[in-house]
Amino acid sequence: SAAEKGGYDYFMLKEIAEQPKAVADTLLGRIDAGGSLTLDEVRISAAELREVDKVVIVACGTAFHAGLIAKYAIEHWTRIPCEVELASEFRYRDPILGKRSLVIAISQSGETMDTLMALRHAREQGSKVLAICNTNGSTIPRESDAVLYTHAGPEVAVASTKAFLTQLVACYLVALYLGQVRGTKWGDEIGAVIRDLSQISCEVERVLETMEPVRELARSLADKNTVLFLGRHVGYPVALEGALKLKELAYMHAEGFAAGELKHGPIALIEPDLPVVVVVPSPRGRSVLHDKIVSNIQEIRARGARTIVIAEEGDEAVVPYADHLVRIPATPTLLQPLVATVPLQVFACELATARGNEVDQPRNLAKSVTVE
Ligand code: AGP
Repeated sequence: SAAEKGGYDYFMLKEIAEQPKAVADTLLGRIDAGGSLTLDEVRISAAELREVDKVVIVACGTAFHAGLIAKYAIEHWTRIPCEVELASEFRYRDPILGKRSLVIAISQSGETMDTLMALRHAREQGSKVLAICNTNGSTIPRESDAVLYTHAGPEVAVASTKAFLTQLVACYLVALYLGQVRGTKWGDEIGAVIRDLSQISCEVERVLETMEPVRELARSLADKNTVLFLGRHVGYPVALEGALKLKELAYMHAEGFAAGELKHGPIALIEPDLPVVVVVPSPRGRSVLHDKIVSNIQEIRARGARTIVIAEEGDEAVVPYADHLVRIPATPTLLQPLVATVPLQVFACELATARGNEVDQPRNLAKSVTVE
């Protein structure tokens, strides 16, 4: 009913708007006054976490994209090797797991059969499984050794939005907590990240306030057949997520690429007026990547692509090559997905509406996939 949708036309719009609160709620009570993490609810002892020699993340769809981003954070902050795998592929390739492997199963619903089968396989090999889940008491957390709940509140729309942002927050918390208990890199950098994370819900709110031009752009592209998405570093999984949202909602051909791969094949797809969304890393920090992606934008624009550039406020280098420029607040590199994903969600939702599609219930899809 309209009341359930809180005055919005679709659950998806309501859930996009709820993201600042979902992010803040997922952090609530997990950072103490001294800026340290308190994750005692994760029932894996500090001693066991110190023994972990490998992290393996299993998930499907949007949750898998959260896992891809988590890998950058986990390896950077903890120096523990991390693999990410589609849950549906995992157990069929005889993965190398042991007692010191920590398997993280990410699932909004907690009922995804592929993810459940992957975690069962991991536990049979003696690995510890930590679930990151949004649904209290669902099957995946019940069958895991421990759980860290995302506090997004119920997600009704088939296309995952607020659950994704909270999965990222939960993954960052786990990564930082692993860093904290193991003492690796614990210090100034991590303290600063925790402070930035506490601010991030306000930044998400600011992004939401500036989305009208994105909606307008989406409407203008309603008759296109293809949209490509490019990103680099953590922007690469963001590009994959932008493409998945467009496939499931707008039923358009959408593909995400790592920008560095462009010259290895995908650049052949570029033709006049093809919309290409580019997620640009911060010009601060890893500025080498920034400069490389700016030349990618130049290359595709020289071939006629219509460039839709998502770049940090103050990044002037992209301006001459952007047909459409979407500004996002400056954040530390690893946290950028929390703000960069939001315009892509709004874009897909508006395109779906413009094409007359059912936003909350896309064709052929179910909210949770309980078959393998
Ligand atoms: C996301 O928009 C999709 N509907 C889908 O990819 C989803 O993320 C996937 O099926 C995993 O679901 P889960 O998080 O409930 O396990």
